[in-house]
Amino acid sequence: MSKLIGPFKEILTLSRTPEKGALADSSLDIIKNGGVLIEGKKILEVGDFNDLRKNDVTIEEIEGSHVLLPGFIDCHTHLVWGGTRARDYTLRMSGESYEKILEQGGGIFDSVEKTRAATKEELKTGLIKRAKRHLKDGITTIEVKSGYGLDVENELKILEVVKNAKGDIEADLIPTCLAAHVCPKEFTNKKEFLEYLEKELLPKLIEKDLANRVDIFVEPSAFPVEIAKDYMSAAKKLGFDLTIHADQFHTGGSQIAVELGARSADHLEASTEMEVEILAKSDTVAVALPGASIGLGMQFTPARKLLDAGASLAISTDWNPGSGPMGDLLVQAAILGIYEKLSSAEIFSGITFRAANALGLNDRGRLAEGMKADMIAFPVDDYREILYNQGKIKPDMVWKNGKQI
Ligand code: NIG
Ligand code: FE
Repeated sequence: MSKLIGPFKEILTLSRTPEKGALADSSLDIIKNGGVLIEGKKILEVGDFNDLRKNDVTIEEIEGSHVLLPGFIDCHTHLVWGGTRARDYTLRMSGESYEKILEQGGGIFDSVEKTRAATKEELKTGLIKRAKRHLKDGITTIEVKSGYGLDVENELKILEVVKNAKGDIEADLIPTCLAAHVCPKEFTNKKEFLEYLEKELLPKLIEKDLANRVDIFVEPSAFPVEIAKDYMSAAKKLGFDLTIHADQFHTGGSQIAVELGARSADHLEASTEMEVEILAKSDTVAVALPGASIGLGMQFTPARKLLDAGASLAISTDWNPGSGPMGDLLVQAAILGIYEKLSSAEIFSGITFRAANALGLNDRGRLAEGMKADMIAFPVDDYREILYNQGKIKPDMVWKNGKQI
């Protein structure tokens, strides 16, 4: 039996909003006084509430004024970690650099030590707590990277935690293997470490069905371009989808992301005109991580330039214990928007269907026939109130697969 949910003052359907390039708010495809007809987990129709109620359907009546959007999608997080990096953050506030802290054996290495020491139960508790907070904020699909294990045993442990957590949270968790985050202290040669991952870890991910996405941090302080390219080519040959931590402090990463046909190139704070052009001509989604810029006190990704050049831009939190401890997608997207001069359509697309595309998912992120009924309602009567309130107004209703949470 189908079900009609509504009425909503406005439904931002994003049903035909283009995948790439700059967007005007007219492309939001807004339906006023709308309703959504759903059957099971999927949307049958989105339209005028009074027209849709003429069908023989059960009605889930919405009280008060609300604006409905597709559930948000966070396409880049590192939600499984042990310990805290408050000490690092305090050092950074006093002027110490992220790269210097890492060079001295802190930073990511600190989280690796605490994550290796944590039990699966402890890691799962942390993951569920963060994912629940995200779901409450309207994020119905969450990508989750490993990357604080840095050896076969601990990387598998983290990805198994993600797999086991799926039954405890309604949001979809999309795992990505970021074992190539930095070179662990046990290896003195970075190339040898990547060869070890290629031979010992990647085949196990397929065997145990733990992840079909592989990521790498391309940076002189992590993995330089030349050796990163060999590892990612090998991962591609094994059938993995690729994504790259690219151009955070130095360029190079986005170029190999495009060359290898990666789904996304994420960070891009250091990208120049050349990288912007290369990304714009490709199908690789450019992912801005304003939470990392805020967490490190550095410049934002050149989002405006990327969009004007014709790129697809997603926005994500990079929620992690080091560079991105805040993890509030809407706050961060709103802040990026006002600094980079983005339209509401560009911002909402970046946290819905464009983020889905970065994950290779085409069944969500728009409110249209056949799409997943992942939806969020904000207690406002005009969509412009949402970004104007800079993330302080959260959705008060969230539906995942057609069910209200
Ligand atoms: O996306 N830059 C590399 N990796 C993460 C941060 C990880 C950490 O600091 O723990 C990022 O910013
Ligand atoms: Fe990251």
